Amino acid sequence: MVPEKPDRNQAIELLKKYVSENLFKHCIATAAIMREVAKELREDDELWEVIGILHDIDYDVVGEDMEKHGIEGQRILLENGVSQEIAEIIGRHNHMLFGEYDKPVEITLQAADSISGLIVACALVKGGKVTDVSVKTVKKKFKEKSFAAGCDRDRIRLIEKIMPLEKFFEVAIRGVVSVREELGLS
Ligand SMILES: [Fe+2]
Repeated sequence: MVPEKPDRNQAIELLKKYVSENLFKHCIATAAIMREVAKELREDDELWEVIGILHDIDYDVVGEDMEKHGIEGQRILLENGVSQEIAEIIGRHNHMLFGEYDKPVEITLQAADSISGLIVACALVKGGKVTDVSVKTVKKKFKEKSFAAGCDRDRIRLIEKIMPLEKFFEVAIRGVVSVREELGLS
């Protein structure tokens, strides 16, 4: 069991019980972006980071069955003692089941989930140096639809409801840079 609002380390320990190494890194990157956006908006950055860490906790468990993704995560989190608030946000983040997001934290989760892979892919082009990834790089690669094609540009664009896209690129890069060692980047 973890506290209703686990801290970063408690959330990481819980996540590790359920996911593969690659998925773990995706969650860390997404969470760091969430945290930086929260700081920018003067929201609860610790809470937003924890939501990012835990958002895909069920991804390996549900396997191919994407109809269960999110819902199963919500169940796992409640079972482990995580608050209803956090579990519900994560339960709703599967955009294939729930299309509408109005809360800043939910919008940011959609955008961070999608841009994390794009920024990591930009870093890999630069020999794994995320510190060499600029807003200009991300802007260019964002427009190149075939680059990191799995990163849904429409979900990234949802951020425009709360922040200009270029600002988001800047904040998201800062987030990934802050966890570069955990991601095996430099
Ligand atoms: Fe994700």
